[in-house]
Amino acid sequence: MMSIKGKILITGVAGFIGSNLAARLLAKGYEVSGIDNLAYGLRENVPDGVDFHCLDIREKEIIPFFRDVDTVFHLAAKNCIADCQADPVETAEINVFGTVNVFEASRRAGVRKVIYAQSSALYEGSSIYPTPESEIKPESFYAVSKLASMYFAKAYQRFYGLKLTALRYFCVYGPVQDYRRTIPPVMSAFIIKLLKGERPIIYGTGEKRRDFVYVDDVNDFHMICVKDDRTNGKTFNIGSGINYSVHEILYEISKILNVSLDPIYKDDLPGEAQVTLADITQARTLGWEPKTPLEVGLERAIDYIRQERTVGRIP
Ligand SMILES: NC(=O)c1ccc[n+]([C@@H]2O[C@H](COP(=O)([O-])OP(=O)(O)OC[C@H]3O[C@@H](n4cnc5c(N)ncnc54)[C@H](O)[C@@H]3O)[C@@H](O)[C@H]2O)c1
Repeated sequence: MMSIKGKILITGVAGFIGSNLAARLLAKGYEVSGIDNLAYGLRENVPDGVDFHCLDIREKEIIPFFRDVDTVFHLAAKNCIADCQADPVETAEINVFGTVNVFEASRRAGVRKVIYAQSSALYEGSSIYPTPESEIKPESFYAVSKLASMYFAKAYQRFYGLKLTALRYFCVYGPVQDYRRTIPPVMSAFIIKLLKGERPIIYGTGEKRRDFVYVDDVNDFHMICVKDDRTNGKTFNIGSGINYSVHEILYEISKILNVSLDPIYKDDLPGEAQVTLADITQARTLGWEPKTPLEVGLERAIDYIRQERTVGRIP
């Protein structure tokens, strides 16, 4: 274990995971700076106390923002699978070029460590469950862009000695989850529809299964990454190790809200895996354990969306 010298910089700080992480780091007494171009995230998501810069990770001149930074969390990305399928060029620009630009700025500025977001989408073509980190079979443009950035990370490690940790998030959920993208994450989409008294939309049969992990549990692992050198050069699945079908999620949310509305079924989305289930053995070896039960996490996610509706941010 080690203490850190300098700031922690988060790219994508106005997004779901980034803003939750910033809040946790500030609460632990770290100095936090953040960049985001607000393409998907909102300025009001960024907690007070973050030194915020509205900036695109593709900008050539980002190095000054990496000076005096000890650790970078690189979370900024174009990450709705449907949006990435519709625009592979921008997907590559942000998720590949933008990520390499962040690695390069980190190297030049002498950053100690970079923790960067990959995705369970790398396992889209796999049928091994629970899926270990070695089982890489990307299919969608989004997944392929994440894989390309992984190979750049390996080269930065090999040739420049940059310390990198890759986190393969499964379906992270909780307060501040993005609801504005073309196809919002399933939980936010269901909660919003049910609160409005509208029928929720299911893409496919409703039997797709997803490994959902609560954002506070993800932050527990982030904190381990900051301090524990055993994470350097490694890749970790970050899921709960339990999966639920889309129908089961709808049932749980309906139960909490005490409503019952029949879903509308639409064609399945291209490029989406039918099942995700994380093998979290590696993350557990560092003492991490996802702790939040589904009902508790869902109640907090619902409370957040209720509040956002009260202040008019969600229609
Ligand atoms: N949330 C999940 O379940 C999940 C699952 C797997 C992987 N991930 C990965 O984790 C990371 C964070 O995800 P999230 O759910 O917080 O997403 P998010 O969309 O809520 O946040 C991403 C942030 O990046 C910003 N951004 C996008 N393009 C940018 C650019 N060119 N320059 C600067 N900022 C830019 C957006 O404005 C947004 O605020 C992403 O890399 C995503 O691919 C998330």
